Amino acid sequence: MEKLRIMSVFGTRPEAIKMCPLVQELASRSEIESLCCVTAQHRQMLDSVLEVFRLKPDYDLDIMTPRQTLSTITSKCLLGMEGAIEALRPDMILVHGDTSTTFAGALSAFYHQIPVGHVEAGLRTYDKYSPFPEEMNRKLVSAIADLYFCPTVNNKKNLLREDITEGLFVTGNTVIDALKTTVRQDYRFSTEALNGLPYGEKKIILVTCHRRENYGEPMKQIMLALREIAETHEDVELVYPVHLSPVVRESADAYLRGAPRVHLIDPLSADEMHNLMARCCLVMTDSGGLQEEAPALGKPVLVLRRETERPEAVEAGTVKLAGVDRETIVSMADRLIRDEDAYREMAHAVNPYGDGHACRRITDAILWHFGRGERPADYQA
Ligand code: UD1
Ligand code: UDP
Repeated sequence: MEKLRIMSVFGTRPEAIKMCPLVQELASRSEIESLCCVTAQHRQMLDSVLEVFRLKPDYDLDIMTPRQTLSTITSKCLLGMEGAIEALRPDMILVHGDTSTTFAGALSAFYHQIPVGHVEAGLRTYDKYSPFPEEMNRKLVSAIADLYFCPTVNNKKNLLREDITEGLFVTGNTVIDALKTTVRQDYRFSTEALNGLPYGEKKIILVTCHRRENYGEPMKQIMLALREIAETHEDVELVYPVHLSPVVRESADAYLRGAPRVHLIDPLSADEMHNLMARCCLVMTDSGGLQEEAPALGKPVLVLRRETERPEAVEAGTVKLAGVDRETIVSMADRLIRDEDAYREMAHAVNPYGDGHACRRITDAILWHFGRGERPADYQA
């Protein structure tokens, strides 16, 4: 029997971190030819992940330009996908999450009448503009997809409410599979400044912030709050690997550069980031991926957004919504820094996002879809 040609498409850092373990799992099965197409919506931040997982894409659209608009990304991906599909002739296309690459990848697959598997399906805020444009991207992909790999039962329920009833699997999030390969007790950072941080002596707060809906005033408020936290707590060191987006870098430079106890550094490789998270005290972020990783490592998270499509860790008690108002962010962080009981309560909660076997379940589900294996059992948190 001919091998199934399964093509994974991704382009940004988080998609890459969550898809590389799946590309590897697919490649490990004798029934499958695992193909990888990157759009390179991100360039350096994508290449860094590919290096960590030692993955060489079969096709590279290389679309990134500085300060790219949503229309540019989407149209370049859509056009570039024509060549990738022609060259690699996939039987199924896998897309991940909710980026512009995800949407264009799914739409292109549909135009070529190729079935689509959506990894990390069913996340919702039900607010069209938040996160922007991700909420709409993932809803549009839901309309196109044939197989839905939901990280949690809650994500599956969201899809059922939208009358999507076929092809649903609860798999856990592949980010937990990735974490299992990167975090090590004896890890040494290649960014030397990170080896010298006063872990254990001071409270290391890990920060990231990049979302488009936070551009402008919300990002200013967030940065000023971070500055105040660092200025008013001598026992804190704030480490912020700044995203390569020029909009984000300008904001971080304007409001945080030169503040005491603030370390503005370049983006970290995935393994550095995961190991830093494992050693920090608290995470403050508007990132989606960090909201999933930090609970798995027992680290409390303050989310720098008004809402989250990841309510599971909020319910479990490891994540709290801090919003984008300066005073609220400062007071919520202050409590966790000063009040050991409040801190312990958040740090002891459980991780609801996976058991590290999401890639196996997704691959089994794909084989089942093509009549080449048993349907996998759903992941139970
Ligand atoms: C994108 C995704 C967002 C995801 C985020 C993860 C969309 C619309 N947004 O947002 O969902 O949370 O990635 O980080 O798909 N840049 C570089 N080098 C890089 C990466 C980015 O220089 O390696 C700069 C470029 O100037 C680029 C800008 O960052 O134009 C913004 O990148 P873009 O992919 O448009 O948006 P993100 O904010 O990264
Ligand atoms: N990450 C990384 N280096 C960094 C910042 C983040 O490797 O300097 C990782 C992080 O551990 C997570 C993913 O990138 O796995 C999250 O990506 P990002 O915050 O850019 O996007 P989001 O998850 O919000 O879509």
